[in-house]
Amino acid sequence: MSELARKAILAAATDRRVGAFMRRYGMRLGAARFVAGETLDEALGVLAQLNAKGLHANTTLLGEDVTSREETAAVVAEYRTVLDRIAERELRVNLALKLTHLGLLIDEELAYENLVALLGHAAERGNFVRIDMEHSSVVDATLRIYRRAREARHDNVGAVLQAYLYRTPDDLEALLPLAPNLRLVKGAYLEPPEIAYPRKGDVDDAYRRLLERALAGGAYVAVATHDESLIDCTMRLGYERDRFEFQMLYGVRPRLQLDLVARGFKVLVATPYGPQWYPYLMRRLAERPANVLFLLRNLLAR
Ligand code: FDA
Repeated sequence: MSELARKAILAAATDRRVGAFMRRYGMRLGAARFVAGETLDEALGVLAQLNAKGLHANTTLLGEDVTSREETAAVVAEYRTVLDRIAERELRVNLALKLTHLGLLIDEELAYENLVALLGHAAERGNFVRIDMEHSSVVDATLRIYRRAREARHDNVGAVLQAYLYRTPDDLEALLPLAPNLRLVKGAYLEPPEIAYPRKGDVDDAYRRLLERALAGGAYVAVATHDESLIDCTMRLGYERDRFEFQMLYGVRPRLQLDLVARGFKVLVATPYGPQWYPYLMRRLAERPANVLFLLRNLLAR
C-alpha cells in the first residue's frame, strides 16, 4: 500500500493545482518541519542550533532544473555568500547542491564551471561540497562532472549513489579508485522498474551490499538513511569511526540523530532552505505517506 501511496504522491507533485495549493499554504501547514526557512538568515539560526547540539550539518539552497544562465549565476553568488557566512560564524556546516541548479540541463560545461568556482571558494574556507544525486536522466553527467573535478585535484567534493538504481554497483566500482567520499542513499525519485528496484525490500538489500562494498573498497561513506537496520548494520561492520558518518534529513527522526551523537558517532543533518521548497517537500511526503497526515492535521487545526 505504501509503495502505491509513494508513487501517487510523486505523481501528484507534478499536478499544477496541487502545486499551486502547496506553494501557497505548504510552509504554514508544516513544510517548516523539513525546511530551515525561506532565507539564509533563518537557515543560519537553525544551523547554529544543530551545531550546538553536537550535530554537523549541510545546507542547500533549494532549487533544481534551472533553465537560464542568469539564474545559475545568482545561485552561485548565493552559495558564495553561504560559504562566507558559515566561515564567519565558524559553523560545522558544508554545502550540498544539485547540478541542475547550477545549469546542468542547459550545458554540462556551465554546470562544471559553476561547480569548480564553488569548490575553489569552499577550499579557501576549508569547506566541502557534496553533489546531490538527482533523477536518473542526469546520473551519467553528474558522475562525469564529479570525476572531472576530482581529476582536476579538487578534493573537497563528494558524490551520492542511489541504491535503487540497478546500475549503481558498477558506478561504485568505477569510483572506488578515486578514494571517493560517497553518500549512500536509497533514492528519492520516481523511476521506472526497467532501471530501478520497485520493491523496498530489494532497495534495502542493495543498500546493504553497496555499503559493505564501499567500506571494503576504501571509500569514506556517509550512511544517509533513517533506517535503523542499516544504521545497525553499519555499526556491526566494525569500521573505525573516521571511515563513515551518519546523515539524516532535518525534521526526520531528530531523537535518533541525538542518540547517535550521544553514542559518539558523527551525525550530519541535511538542512535545506529557500523559497523553492515545493519539490523537496513532495519527496519527503512520498518517503513517508504518514507525513501527508501530519500536514492535514495542521490544516484541520487552523
Ligand atoms: P526508509 O524510507 O526505509 O525509512 C526508514 C524510516 O525512516 C521510516 O520508517 C521512517 O520512520 C523514517 N523516515 C524516512 N523518511 C522519512 C520522512 N521523509 N519523514 C519522516 N520519517 C521518515 N535521495 C536522492 O535521490 N538523492 C540525494 O542526493 C539524496 N540525498 C539525501 C541526503 C540525506 C542526508 C538523506 C538522509 C537522504 C537523502 N536522499 C537522497 C533521500 C533518500 O534517497 C531516501 O528517499 C530517504 O532517505 C528515505 O529513505 P530512508 O533511507 O530513510 O529509508
